Amino acid sequence: MSQQNLLEIQQLRGGYSEVDIIHGIDLRVAPGEIVTIAGTNGAGKSTLVKALLGLLPRVHGAIHLEGREITRLSAEDRFDAGLAYVPQVANVFPSLTVRENLLVVRGVAQVKRRMDEVLADFPALVERLPQPASNLSGGERQQLAFARALMPSPRIMVLDEPTAALSPSLVGKVFDMVQKLPAAGVAVLMVEQRARQALTISQQGYILDQGRCVLDGAAQTLLADSRMAQLYLGNH
Ligand SMILES: Nc1ncnc2c1ncn2[C@@H]1O[C@H](COP(=O)(O)OP(=O)(O)O)[C@@H](O)[C@H]1O
Ligand SMILES: [Mg+2]
Repeated sequence: MSQQNLLEIQQLRGGYSEVDIIHGIDLRVAPGEIVTIAGTNGAGKSTLVKALLGLLPRVHGAIHLEGREITRLSAEDRFDAGLAYVPQVANVFPSLTVRENLLVVRGVAQVKRRMDEVLADFPALVERLPQPASNLSGGERQQLAFARALMPSPRIMVLDEPTAALSPSLVGKVFDMVQKLPAAGVAVLMVEQRARQALTISQQGYILDQGRCVLDGAAQTLLADSRMAQLYLGNH
């Protein structure tokens, strides 16, 4: 694998049973890059994310993170290797306070100092620290989920449709948070239905259809491709 890639996925295929859902996907993320995965419903985007995270029962091919092969590591070991994931729902503990949500993250050294560093980018959470997370608004809850994911200083954040369950007013806020991650040293691999908006803040894009990558390239090129726009970018 080449040195400049943070994440490199090669010929990845697999599925939930003996039937392949993804059929040989190649994908790369460079350090500090935002990369969008788009495509039709049922194309295998979430399945690819599960394979990357170590949550798909059967996987063939290779995944390297910072040059280290992680294809056969457990989900926990991939997390420790620097792969962060923000689930779409149930991404905070509602009965714990905001502070507790940040403190219970696994594998963080000097946790109080790290919490201060992370909170510098989420000032709205600071005054909420003693409150139960269930008191947070939808937008604040998303911020907390991001802050939690950032606690262990991951190398790459994986997001599967981070805006799907949100009201339109919150969508822009989530893209704003995503856009700030590279400056914090965190690359992003994001599945998004709002492909147009997502590509606008991305450097690279991959379009999946029926478990295969049908198109990939610079985000600007994909946005300018009218055939691709018609088929895969929708009206968002
Ligand atoms: N847990 C599962 N068990 C079996 N098949 C699944 C499971 N999850 C998804 N699939 C199938 O895998 C295919 C791809 O689904 P998915 O990866 O969720 O697509 P996308 O995220 O692109 O909408 C679909 O045909 C879906 O029915
Ligand atoms: Mg999905």
